[in-house]
Amino acid sequence: MLPSSGEVSSGRRTRVAYLSVSGGLGGSEMALLALLKGLQDAALAFDLSVILGSAGPLAERIEMLGVPVYVLPFPAAISRLGESRGKGIHTYVRLVGALFSIAGYAWKLRKLVRRIGPDVVHSNGLKMHFLSVCSVGRRRALIWHVHDYVGRRAITRRLLRWGSGKVRAVICNSLHVKADVASAGIRRPEILTIYNGIDTERFCAAGSGLDLDRVSGLPAAAKGTVRVGLLGTFARWKGHEVFLRALGLLGEQAAVRGYVIGAPIYQTDGSQFSTDELKGLCARLCLSDRVGFTGFADAADALRALDIVVHASTEPEPFGMVIAEALACGKAVVASRAGGAQEIFSERVSALAHTPGDPQELAARLAELVRDPGLRGRLGAEGAAGVRERFSLARCANETASLYHRILENPVRVS
Ligand code: GLC
Repeated sequence: MLPSSGEVSSGRRTRVAYLSVSGGLGGSEMALLALLKGLQDAALAFDLSVILGSAGPLAERIEMLGVPVYVLPFPAAISRLGESRGKGIHTYVRLVGALFSIAGYAWKLRKLVRRIGPDVVHSNGLKMHFLSVCSVGRRRALIWHVHDYVGRRAITRRLLRWGSGKVRAVICNSLHVKADVASAGIRRPEILTIYNGIDTERFCAAGSGLDLDRVSGLPAAAKGTVRVGLLGTFARWKGHEVFLRALGLLGEQAAVRGYVIGAPIYQTDGSQFSTDELKGLCARLCLSDRVGFTGFADAADALRALDIVVHASTEPEPFGMVIAEALACGKAVVASRAGGAQEIFSERVSALAHTPGDPQELAARLAELVRDPGLRGRLGAEGAAGVRERFSLARCANETASLYHRILENPVRVS
């Protein structure tokens, strides 16, 4: 049973500060937004505030929930750091080159955290995990919320293993990520999975739909055209290439139009496709008149306008917010069969799946759905019911609040 309020022993409300990397609206940012909404809706009397490493639409969405936001922009040297390209020695060199910027940023972050005075600091995103260790004093309980696999990133893994000595708990977004964190040697008193919440007031079948053709600058599609879309950031592993190749394999006969919804949002060097690169690939596959690029769009409106939503990540997806959001909107989904994404749906019951990186198999699943609207409807209905049951905002907020309480009631000193 949860305490009805978030009071700390002194009688004042518990303060929680969230540190998050980006002000864009990628998966981990949507998960943070959902968590904040769940906590506010549950009226657990926490005082929440958020510090973001870059400005962007997330800030406004958080402020609309009545949660104060501070933007403390990362210097370029930190924004660009990443392990997606330039592995090994190259990344070390850049890390060393960024040390001055890291120290300066950590100092500013420490001052801001002190001013806010939180009891719990909840960090969201790998760079913030590292910076939080350098910026949060021992009096505050530090929690890492891990949204991505760390095991295969050698440098990140080492840094996190080093920093985890200061952390009270590690939240993972799926069982797969929890297993990865444990096998990476990050050992805390508590490593637990809390599945993300989905805002089903926003992600639901009822509501407006985006005019996909108009925003993509394409002529209106013929009646009966099946609209298939991939929605997400332009990270290379999100599988845009597989999606486009699968559309190419469907051939011109199928009355199908594809949509690439989203834009590059992170600054990490070499980690993303540019819009021009993807448009060039469309041209080479002779798909330019059958694929629209909408740019950044409201995710719920875009999902509602589609008949089929494709998730095509070529690497195991840690969770896959877009899969759960699409199911919540009652859409037929074809997802990559790997990683935490598989924990969201039950294959052939609430979604179809394909082998990551296999455009042939994806095309076969798409062809099945294109010719069978009944199957699309059945999968969508089952999927929406499953999301309401398993990924509610209230469940996510309550599990997270319980963790805060457990930690504050048991003020163990970390090493
Ligand atoms: C990260 C992961 C994605 C997950 C999201 C929210 O963006 O890559 O799989 O859905 O975080 O947890």
